Amino acid sequence: MLSLALLSLLAPLAVVQSAIIAPLTRSSDFGRTVTARDGPTCTVKAGGSNSTDDSPAFSDAAKQCADGGTILFSEGVDYYFNTPVNATLNNVEIQLKGNINLPQNISYVQNIVNSTAGGNVWWLSLSGSDLNFVGSTNVSNGWINGYGQQWWDANPANKSGIANRPHLWRFNVTGGSIKYLKVRKPIAWVTTLSGSDIDVQDVFVDASTTPNGGFPFNTDGFDVSAKNVRITDFTILNGDDAVTINNGGENVTVTNGFISGPGCHGTSIGSLGQAQGVYQTVKNIWFENIKVQGCVYGSRIKTYLGGQGLVQNVTFANYDIVNTTFPIYLTQNYFNQGSTQTQNGAGIQDGGNYGGRVDNSSVLIDGVTYKDWKGTINTYQPGDRSCVSDPCWYDVPGSDGTQSIVIGCSNSTACSNFEFKNIQVIPESYAAPKINCTYLETANNPNLGLVCTNGTLVETA
Ligand SMILES: *[C@@H]1O[C@H](CO)[C@@H](O)[C@H](O)[C@H]1NC(C)=O
Ligand SMILES: *[C@@H]1O[C@H](CO)[C@@H](O)[C@H](O)[C@H]1NC(C)=O
Ligand SMILES: *[C@@H]1O[C@H](CO)[C@@H](O)[C@H](O)[C@H]1NC(C)=O
Ligand SMILES: *[C@@H]1O[C@H](CO)[C@@H](O)[C@H](O)[C@H]1NC(C)=O
Ligand SMILES: *[C@@H]1O[C@H](CO)[C@@H](O)[C@H](O)[C@H]1NC(C)=O
Ligand SMILES: *[C@@H]1O[C@H](CO)[C@@H](O)[C@H](O)[C@H]1NC(C)=O
Ligand SMILES: *[C@@H]1O[C@H](CO)[C@@H](O)[C@H](O)[C@H]1NC(C)=O
Ligand SMILES: *[C@@H]1O[C@H](CO)[C@@H](O)[C@H](O)[C@H]1NC(C)=O
Ligand SMILES: *[C@@H]1O[C@H](CO)[C@@H](O)[C@H](O)[C@H]1NC(C)=O
Ligand SMILES: *[C@@H]1O[C@H](CO)[C@@H](O)[C@H](O)[C@H]1NC(C)=O
Ligand SMILES: *[C@@H]1O[C@H](CO)[C@@H](O)[C@H](O)[C@H]1NC(C)=O
Ligand SMILES: *[C@@H]1O[C@H](CO)[C@@H](O)[C@H](O)[C@H]1NC(C)=O
Repeated sequence: MLSLALLSLLAPLAVVQSAIIAPLTRSSDFGRTVTARDGPTCTVKAGGSNSTDDSPAFSDAAKQCADGGTILFSEGVDYYFNTPVNATLNNVEIQLKGNINLPQNISYVQNIVNSTAGGNVWWLSLSGSDLNFVGSTNVSNGWINGYGQQWWDANPANKSGIANRPHLWRFNVTGGSIKYLKVRKPIAWVTTLSGSDIDVQDVFVDASTTPNGGFPFNTDGFDVSAKNVRITDFTILNGDDAVTINNGGENVTVTNGFISGPGCHGTSIGSLGQAQGVYQTVKNIWFENIKVQGCVYGSRIKTYLGGQGLVQNVTFANYDIVNTTFPIYLTQNYFNQGSTQTQNGAGIQDGGNYGGRVDNSSVLIDGVTYKDWKGTINTYQPGDRSCVSDPCWYDVPGSDGTQSIVIGCSNSTACSNFEFKNIQVIPESYAAPKINCTYLETANNPNLGLVCTNGTLVETA
């Protein structure tokens, strides 16, 4: 609006106008990814094949250019990161004009992960300030190749992913950007964002499996626990959350995304409250212009029974939904089928047997708006191939492929100030869309906009 107003004011002054337009365009990139650094450029040396580990060469370049430099992966060159790398960089631009390849030997990677204390390994771990990653717009270059297919195929029936899988990368910065990120067949979790003031633009994550291949478990696109974040213009094809906001996530805007299969779980908040006694928070989150096709969920809020914390001020706006099992979903009775520690009986699904997990609290959820949704519910082939528990972890007893909204709050005060506006999501069968709603009490939800019941969806506003 501002720039339009400026333009019309300045229209007669053609010369001045162009001088003013340029910086306006730049500032939408936060001014970070556009210009090269003034400092030195350190080119990462490549060994030329996977029999040479290029990780030390990256670490060398990172050391020399750690302050104000540019770290360059040369155009069209393949790099082999046989060992995990980490670097702390300030006022640095990383240019990935070649491709980064993870090792293809599963047991070799597993040994590295297993020998790391805690077993959590990020193959590439970057931290610092004003750190800017720029990939490539050349379709042959700028890829990070995880060779995840063989990991997915190696997963035995009835298991949700083999042991000792690494995370791909962590971006933990105070100020930074990621542009033109392209990831192919990640082993599992792709990007972990922590820190603050991070701008992410133009992302393609392709975790599609081959037609009869294994399910790409835990291939989360973004796990965000950072503050002041924008993620925009992304395509994520995967087998878990495309973007999820975790404990500590605050002021995160996620816009203009396409999310699809093989087993996508959409846009999420959580899971929160797994560790009982630890207070977890997520606030001021905005999702807008998201297209979800063939996923189990469109949006999902997931918290564990017996957890503590607060989710506050979340909006899911303008969703296009195609063939999705549970378009709008919330559970305060979440559990992880891959982690016995979190199960302890399957809660409501197990007739209220929480088996040892004390059900004396829940993460409070306050101020959630769903508006302007349209599209179709997957009526005929619900779910995906991620189900290895019985009952299936995503089962909603009584659901019949017509539920556009499933909201399961744990008590009459746990969910407050919810609003629904213009939810035009219908079953593929053309049956009336239904709602399965527990504990959205009108006393705490004065502008709810629908009748919370187990039955046909009735909007009231
Ligand atoms: C894209 O990358 C390939 C491989 O490095 C190279 O041969 C080609 O010239 C590049 N295309 C452009 C337009 O830069
Ligand atoms: C970074 O890598 C070095 C060398 O591989 C290692 O000693 C160090 O523990 C790593 N630090 C972190 C924070 O991972
Ligand atoms: C090196 O690459 C070849 C294929 O190019 C692959 O068969 C082999 O497993 C790779 N080795 C490692 C250690 O990743
Ligand atoms: C894969 O890695 C394991 C463990 O490091 C090693 O024993 C084995 O020889 C490697 N296989 C190949 C084909 O390199
Ligand atoms: C990790 O390595 C230890 C020691 O070799 C072994 O006992 C354990 O089973 C391994 N854990 C996993 C999850 O692979
Ligand atoms: C992120 O970086 C900060 C400062 O460099 C450090 O204190 C913090 O432990 C890091 N957090 C994670 C999750 O790596
Ligand atoms: C929220 O984050 C954006 C960047 O995505 C930033 O421009 C804005 O100032 C932040 N708002 C607050 C209140 O910190
Ligand atoms: C709610 O979150 C949005 C998106 O981050 C933000 O713009 C808005 O100011 C927040 N509202 C309040 C009352 O904090
Ligand atoms: C919906 O998705 C399922 C897989 O989840 C697929 O089998 C089915 O063909 C899709 N239906 C439509 C109408 O696209
Ligand atoms: C509902 O759960 C919240 C959070 O655990 C708790 O503070 C509150 O007392 C409970 N309310 C009722 C009516 O049980
Ligand atoms: C609503 O969902 C709850 C919780 O998943 C389930 O137990 C119940 O049977 C469902 N009710 C209907 C009518 O579908
Ligand atoms: C919906 O069904 C669940 C499970 O049968 C029940 O606990 C809940 O009270 C019902 N909600 C409403 C509003 O009827």
